[in-house]
Amino acid sequence: MTALDLLDQLRLNGTIPRHVAIIMDGNGRWASERMLPRPLGHRSGMKAVREIVESALEAGVEFLSLFAFSQENWQRPPLEISALMSLLEEYIQREADELEGEGVRVRVLGDIERLTPPAKAAVARVTAQTADNTKLTLNLFISYGSRAEMVRAARRIADEVQAGSLRPEQVDEAAFAARLYTADCPDPDLLIRTSGEQRISNFLLWQLAYAEIVISPVLWPDFGRANLYAAIREYQNRDRRFGRVPAAAPPPA
Ligand code: FPP
Repeated sequence: MTALDLLDQLRLNGTIPRHVAIIMDGNGRWASERMLPRPLGHRSGMKAVREIVESALEAGVEFLSLFAFSQENWQRPPLEISALMSLLEEYIQREADELEGEGVRVRVLGDIERLTPPAKAAVARVTAQTADNTKLTLNLFISYGSRAEMVRAARRIADEVQAGSLRPEQVDEAAFAARLYTADCPDPDLLIRTSGEQRISNFLLWQLAYAEIVISPVLWPDFGRANLYAAIREYQNRDRRFGRVPAAAPPPA
């Protein structure tokens, strides 16, 4: 079955997830399987990002969250870090105009103060350039860790309570969620992790509370349109109950 047939099936089936989050894993293994340096795996990973953004747009996904660089990734060898920073710049340089034209709003979420100055400048540029788009929100998580995000939210709340602009009894789940990077996004419906690993790795711990998880054995650089649509199809076959019992069966006729 071609990717386009799959897309037709997805549409017929009904519910396209509004928000898809992806832990893009396996670039390193993809490179070492080919005896290539790891940065070349990341470069191929960047091409996969392009195809997945296009495929998400075609399917009608409204929010796409990609985990591109974790806080722990700062401990990788300096050469690999600088390759990833350059790829981020290159991705923005190459794709910004097209993304803008396609209606994609791009944001980079995480501790962006740690990025290199050129990467930071590129992020500021693409964020401003695409800010008014509404078709697809592309969240690139870079220098991101979910626990740090939650600590940051807790600190903000503490500051506001101390300043008197927020009362302790106003601190509820909505107030907390409103202080996360993802404040204006619905929670992800579907989390995909590539390369067969079965971990959440400090990604969106709060937001993924009720997400369906699909693990794909495919390494990220090989993950394409058909793989995304197969994951969405798997999602459509799940029975989402949000902790409740299944809906009552209709009474017999
Ligand atoms: C995980 O693979 C992937 C990353 C740490 C980086 C992800 C980056 C990209 C997909 C390219 C950059 C994209 C943009 C939009 C800038 P790994 O290196 O942990 O793989 P391994 O587990 O096989 O070693």
